[in-house]
Order: sequence, then structure tokens, then C-alpha cells
Amino acid sequence: MAAASASLTIAAMNTSTTTSTSSALPRIAVLATGGTIAGAAPDATNTSGYQAGVVGVGQLLAAVPSLATVANVQAEQVASVDSKDMALALWTTLSQRVDTLLASGEIDGVVITHGTDTLEETAYLLHLTVKSSKPVVLTAAMRPSSALSADGPLNLLNAVTVAGSAQAKGQGVLVAFNNRIHSARDVVKTSTYAVDAFHSPEIGALGWVQDGRVEFQRAVVRPHTTATPFAIASIGAQWPDVEVVTSYAGASRVAVDALVAAGVKGIVVAGTGNGSIHATLQTALAEAAAKGVAIVRSSRVGSGHVMRNGAASDDALGFVTAGTLNPYKARVLLMLALASGHTTPAALQNVFDTY
Ligand code: SIN
Repeated sequence: MAAASASLTIAAMNTSTTTSTSSALPRIAVLATGGTIAGAAPDATNTSGYQAGVVGVGQLLAAVPSLATVANVQAEQVASVDSKDMALALWTTLSQRVDTLLASGEIDGVVITHGTDTLEETAYLLHLTVKSSKPVVLTAAMRPSSALSADGPLNLLNAVTVAGSAQAKGQGVLVAFNNRIHSARDVVKTSTYAVDAFHSPEIGALGWVQDGRVEFQRAVVRPHTTATPFAIASIGAQWPDVEVVTSYAGASRVAVDALVAAGVKGIVVAGTGNGSIHATLQTALAEAAAKGVAIVRSSRVGSGHVMRNGAASDDALGFVTAGTLNPYKARVLLMLALASGHTTPAALQNVFDTY
């Protein structure tokens, strides 16, 4: 939604305690990364021509005095980016910072403020890499902080409330948005403008938060955080190059051939329907698979799952299927799997069936 992008800066850690301390309250670290929640426009009716990531975390917290009643909040400005510009290096910084804070024994939970555009990717990355069972909750906003009826303040209060709740422990990374609590694995952005912009298609939200009350209605089943083998430290600066291509009427092989020539390690295809692929594109992808490029079939549909289509196709072509992961989350998992040494179609399918 942002018309202009904030420059991508990974700011120096800037720590400040912003609420008075009460020993009865949970200790929550708020890590700010930018986004529309930290956006500002010249006037209050402007919700499309603003600049994302320009309002500092101190100002975000000051807009929500009630935070002092739910947590002792410590704030850090980790970055100030429009999340369309999210970088893999910032994912590394964020994951490591979350681990450090939660291991310190002085923090009970972490809230990350983020742009909505790539929130689902960052959330899933952290869900797979953070090594703590303490709550980690991402939140965001669809309207800049300067807007009439800005949604950021309530989303931030709700996220801190969830992060401080006993029920959120062990649920993996969560997204608190518009009163609902979602699993990082399932949640996707589904609207370009509505404040009810995040849903978990097929599966639904985990629960809700309202007026200080947190209720979970189901638990997260697939392994996450401490139960995965994925470690951000082992990736370092060497993220495997994985790209996404899309299938559509008249699709060509130009993009796949260019990616293979560039040396990519994996390609996720956003297929039609149950991850079906235009014949021309499929031939190019099969040739790429034969050269050792990992090929994962996902779907551009937006809900449902992609199932293996048997010996005649996926087995013969060396393709992997993404299940319920959309193409962008499938890319996150494929990068982590490749970085962890899973390279054969069988090993990768096992990863996709597990996480
Ligand atoms: C962003 O993703 O940083 C901008 C858009 C938003 O947060 O809604």
C-alpha cells in the first residue's frame, strides 16, 4: 500500500524502557521493523500515499498508554523498512535477536511490529528458526499511524497482551491482527486495503484477543521453533537462492531457463489449481530438476493444498509438493531445507510433509 519506500536500514539497537515497571506484569520486548504501522501521511484521510516505516518505536508505544497495564515493555528499533524490501540479512538479524532476548531470562515474550506485505514470510521464517517456547507475536497495521481510525495501536496492544499470556507459550510464532490470533504457518494477507486483512485459509485462526482476554480454540500441530532442525546461525550469509515462478495461460520457459542459467538452487512454482503447470513450463522445470534444481509445486489459488499426483508425474519428474503452504512460504521452507542439507526430492518431500 505504501507509495514511497523507506530506505532499508538495519538500525543500531536502541533500547528504552517505556512503561513503569511492575513485577506482576510479563516482560515483553517490542522489536520494531517498520511497515505501515510505523507509517505517516500528510493528512489523516490519506491511507494510500504515505511513507512506511518512518515513525519510531517510542512514538508507537506512546500512542498506546494502556500497554502499561498489560506488560513491562522494553523497545528496540531493529529496522525501519517497508516490508516489500525485507532482506534475508534482516531475517537473520531478527531471528538471532529474538533468540538472544528469550534466552536471557529477563524477557517473557517478544512482539515484532512489521509491514503487512511480507509479514507472513517473516512470521513463518521465525516459526521455523526461533529456539524458544516463549511467545513471539507479530503484528502490523493496514492504516498508517496518522490515519483516522488507525488500526496499529489496538493491534499492538493485542499483540503485547497475547505475548504476555500463558496460553501463547509453546504455540510457535503467532500473528495478532484485527482481534484474531493466527499461526505463522497458516496466516496470509488476503486484502490490499481492508483492516481485516489476514486470514488462515482452510484452517482458520487459532483464537482471538479482545479487551485483554486471550482465548485459543485450537493448538498448533506441526513441529515448530524448538522442535525443528533449522538454525539461523548455520545459514549465515549463505541463503540458498530460491525463486518463484507462476503458471498461467500461455506460460513460457524463459524465466525458468534464465534462473537455471543463473545457478538457482530451487524454484517454487505457483501453479494453477492443484499446482498444475502449463506443459511448456513443466518441461523446463523437469529439465531443471534433472540438473539438480529443487522444484516445489505450490498453488496460486490462495487456499487448499497441493497433493502429489503419483508415479506418472511428481515421482517421474522429481518434483516436491508444498501441501498447504502458499508459494512464498514454500520458498521460506525450501531455503531452510536446502541450507540444512536436504537436497533430494524424497528428503525435501519429507520436510514439506513435516513442517
Ligand atoms: C509494508 O509492508 O511495510 C507496507 C504495507 C503495510 O504495512 O501495510
